[in-house]
Amino acid sequence: MDNKRYGHFDDQHREYVITDPQTPWPWINYLGNEDFFSLISNTAGGYCFYKDAKFRRLTRYRYNGVPMDNGGRYFYINDGGTVWNPGWKPCKTPLDSYECRHGMNYTRITGSKNGVEASVLFFVPLHTWAEVQKLTLTNNSNEVKRLKLFSFAEWCLWNAATDMENFQRNFSTGEVEIEGSVIYHKTEYRERRNHYAFYGVNVPIQGFDTDRETFVGLYNEFANPDAVIEGHPRNSHAHGWSPIASHYIEVELQPNESRDYIFLLGYVENKQEEKFIAPQVINKTQAKAMMARFDTSEKVDAAFAELCDYWDNLLNIYTANTGNDKLDRMVNIWNQYQCMVTFCMSRSASFFESGIGRGMGFRDSNQDLVGFVHLIPERARERIIDIASTQFPDGGCYHQYQPLTKRGNNDIGGGFNDDPCWLIFGTVAYIKETGDFSILDEMVPFDNQSGTEVTLFEHLQVSFNHVVNNLGPHSLPLIGRADWNDCLNLNCFSWDPNESFQTTENKTEGSQAESVMIAGLFVVTGKDYVELCKILPDHIKTMQNLKDIDFAAEADRAQRHVDEMVNAVKTHGWDGEWYLRAYDFYGNKIGSDECEEGKIFIESQGWCTMAGIGLEEGLVERSLDSVKERLECEHGIVLNNPAFTTYHVEMGEISSYPEGYKENAGIFCHNNPWVIIGETVAARGDDAWSHYKKILPSYVEEDRQTLHKVEPYVNCQMVAGKDAYRPGEGKNSWLTGTAAWMWYTVSEFILGIKPHYDGLFIDPCLPKTAHNYTVNRRFRGGEYEIRVSNPKGVSKGVAKMTVDGMPVEGAVVPAQPGKHIVEVVMG
Ligand code: BGC
Ligand code: NOJ
Repeated sequence: MDNKRYGHFDDQHREYVITDPQTPWPWINYLGNEDFFSLISNTAGGYCFYKDAKFRRLTRYRYNGVPMDNGGRYFYINDGGTVWNPGWKPCKTPLDSYECRHGMNYTRITGSKNGVEASVLFFVPLHTWAEVQKLTLTNNSNEVKRLKLFSFAEWCLWNAATDMENFQRNFSTGEVEIEGSVIYHKTEYRERRNHYAFYGVNVPIQGFDTDRETFVGLYNEFANPDAVIEGHPRNSHAHGWSPIASHYIEVELQPNESRDYIFLLGYVENKQEEKFIAPQVINKTQAKAMMARFDTSEKVDAAFAELCDYWDNLLNIYTANTGNDKLDRMVNIWNQYQCMVTFCMSRSASFFESGIGRGMGFRDSNQDLVGFVHLIPERARERIIDIASTQFPDGGCYHQYQPLTKRGNNDIGGGFNDDPCWLIFGTVAYIKETGDFSILDEMVPFDNQSGTEVTLFEHLQVSFNHVVNNLGPHSLPLIGRADWNDCLNLNCFSWDPNESFQTTENKTEGSQAESVMIAGLFVVTGKDYVELCKILPDHIKTMQNLKDIDFAAEADRAQRHVDEMVNAVKTHGWDGEWYLRAYDFYGNKIGSDECEEGKIFIESQGWCTMAGIGLEEGLVERSLDSVKERLECEHGIVLNNPAFTTYHVEMGEISSYPEGYKENAGIFCHNNPWVIIGETVAARGDDAWSHYKKILPSYVEEDRQTLHKVEPYVNCQMVAGKDAYRPGEGKNSWLTGTAAWMWYTVSEFILGIKPHYDGLFIDPCLPKTAHNYTVNRRFRGGEYEIRVSNPKGVSKGVAKMTVDGMPVEGAVVPAQPGKHIVEVVMG
């Protein structure tokens, strides 16, 4: 496999620099981190939306197109008949130079041709419902250049799903208005919508187009639109069909002259009574005000500087200096950045997730929390309340909710029996980071029904109880529709390809399907729950609602259930060399040496080792050794082995995938960190590091860009496993729980800086070759410089620790304001 490189890291600017537009797959970035979002590829493909990629899609995108990545925000430059784009696509005219810099919520694409350079900075300013595109044209030639510049964006008719299917209606509804240099998209504004979009530029225009077919030509492509090729706009006014927005600007540049053009693609909501200023004429006040905020380069540069400061601040909360560039750039930049993106998107919109499928996942969003709670704790708090509000009174949960309405999604419903545990996981992470126990006192409804509110603590209680109340014949948790592995569908029994594996349960009566993974997850989160109950009495005094609970008794009760679960796993969940995965509907073993295929699974090895089940008896080490022996390969740890070679109706979707892909023996990166943390529980720092490095993007970036295919600066959900046709090929980049788990693993378990209720617990687990490193950590108003040294080359164990020169017992740095130096000597 060739080792061609398409780009490189620029750590100083926190950018990934792409130097060849023909990457093995579009390499994308995300703009916006609040309400307005854009996806942008290295050739300026992609789309934007407000809050919800399904219900409020602003611009249209064509998935899985030929050629790949069709539709985006394009600038066409017609220079004396040579037509080109700064991002190479869609014309694909060979450029004299090309570069795309993906940075922290911004992208800068620069191309040049025949002495003209065009550089576009794309970003969504903070607190703004718009994408700014600052185009700088520079004449580097010795001649006067007369250029014809065309912008291009294609509107989506808001609902991205019906936009792609209901053409009998869609082709008649499209409406626009043009005023000055601004094109307004107002489809359906005449009836129930109170929002419109606009695309404007800060200079007078010499023409425009708003009807796609007129601009492009019915039998042309984005690569050769009639208007651009012929060099004159049609001034078309869209009525139905497919409305677009294209500005036409005549540019004259003297030699060495450079000029900026600021385009703004924005979204506005109006009050019902303020929608129109005259019959059929929309109220443009807010759009104009927004345009005015960004109508000069100075204003745009200031907004950009503000965004960069915002990221400086965030990324200064945790910085590591280990002397290993590949580790530092992931810890300090890209891993945290990806965590922010997964927080914003959940699993909705990427170049693998269409934005019309899923909303916010209950388990996904809780796990994502551990990746960003240190960055934006207030938003984590809000997120936890939103998630908990979709829970049912018995502790079960809607599996997903829509970000726009924050309501549980009825199409998918509930019944995934791991879901409740994750609420404990997320909430505990939040309190440990912030020390904000008051969140437990918040009144939170069930299923968003007002009148049903109980405290968030009681939501955690029903979550805990949901597992206890749903045990199977081996006293292990019943799996329900599925646990974390959405594709292990043990009650599904589907022979009908039109049925969804995710929602179908053809056989439930008398089901004995149990999950050893949920058992491990329950032990981990159950211990957290017990610990919380024990310390809560110290914090209860200031609370309004959370009073009448006997926390000591609750801690005892919970501890008993946790102990019973540990016993159940030891008795019924151990296969001899590893933990079993599950029992199926009939009570047969899954993930046992007795099975022909799928003898061993990663999830239960991860969770039961993290939970330390059987640590004293050596089960943890044996399980981890079995993982190395049977699941580990060159590119990471596969999910199961041997892969399923035929469809097993009693197991569902997992056996629907070809060998080596996705949940059937793919390297499902999300769960590799579970094993890595398990390795740190067993104090095996060398193994932890070697597993971690295998899926760390910066290592992949170094020698596998072509094979890996997807972006080498972020983790992807799945890398094809050892049984696949092309092991090592990545898919489904960006929106994966891998981001949060990689962060949690490296920050807390490898570098070992763990937020605890009282302070920072320092507990590294290192490869024996690791020497000195420093972590700078801001935590609850304090700033800590933590210097770790490892003179004896051990993996685990803090021999000595001082805070500001004073020895400390027990390796917890107390939370206190001000600057502190922590010296840690391993040994
Ligand atoms: C995928 C899973 C995913 C599930 C839910 C399945 O097809 O393989 O990874 O969690 O769909 O949408
Ligand atoms: C992706 C889903 O988003 C997540 O919820 C699930 O746990 C994994 N796939 C594994 O199936």
